[in-house]
Amino acid sequence: MSDILYPTPHIAAQPADFARTVLMPGDPLRAAFIAQTYLEDAVLVNNVRGIQGYTGLYQGKRVSVMASGMGMPSIGIYSYELFRIFGVKNIIRVGTAGAISPDVHVRDIVVAMGACTNSNYASQYRLPGTFAPTASYPLMKTAIDAAQAKGVRYHVGNCLSSDTFYCDDDTAVGQWAKMGVLCIEMEAAALYMNAARCGGNALALFTVSDHILTGEVTTAEERQTSFTDMMEIALETALKEKE
Ligand code: HPA
Repeated sequence: MSDILYPTPHIAAQPADFARTVLMPGDPLRAAFIAQTYLEDAVLVNNVRGIQGYTGLYQGKRVSVMASGMGMPSIGIYSYELFRIFGVKNIIRVGTAGAISPDVHVRDIVVAMGACTNSNYASQYRLPGTFAPTASYPLMKTAIDAAQAKGVRYHVGNCLSSDTFYCDDDTAVGQWAKMGVLCIEMEAAALYMNAARCGGNALALFTVSDHILTGEVTTAEERQTSFTDMMEIALETALKEKE
């Protein structure tokens, strides 16, 4: 691993600017929304390439939120730098996903216990086999308890972190569905691998924005409501994580 110093090419901040836990939506505007809606005294700590990062207080505890951008290379860069250079301990992705399981519906929340992938990201580790990217159990347990307390519809299982949003192979989705994979998104596996390699903790939560097999979709308003539930679950998890 490289010994890079801060500020990095992607994050113009210092380690003290970030809290132990960073919530990570894909969209920079969502990062701003979370900071404005939930954090007191939120300060903008990064804005390189419009990847807005804020640190503020949630119920008196310091929490950061920073966007990841889309795809494994993008979240790979930001999560690596946060874990390795900025001393962040926990990263909780809060994103959207397309469902592929008949049991999962739009607006449901998925807790990604594991992340399958069609990406070559793991090849950098030169493992003599296949790595299974998984969530941090303590973060996942806290998030599940919070989801239960909220009474929202949620599922715990595998996601697929895909390198392609537009896939040329029409059979691929069905093949993953046959293996019980719940939904498709584009970042969790890289986040989980970086957490494993860097000694950090990671969790990915998704709200289901569309159903890839049935064509079910959400309205913008419904997306916002389920996004808010997921945010509150992630913030509760940040609040309860232990040093
Ligand atoms: N594919 C990949 N990522 C997604 C999707 C999808 O269909 N929906 C929301 N995020």
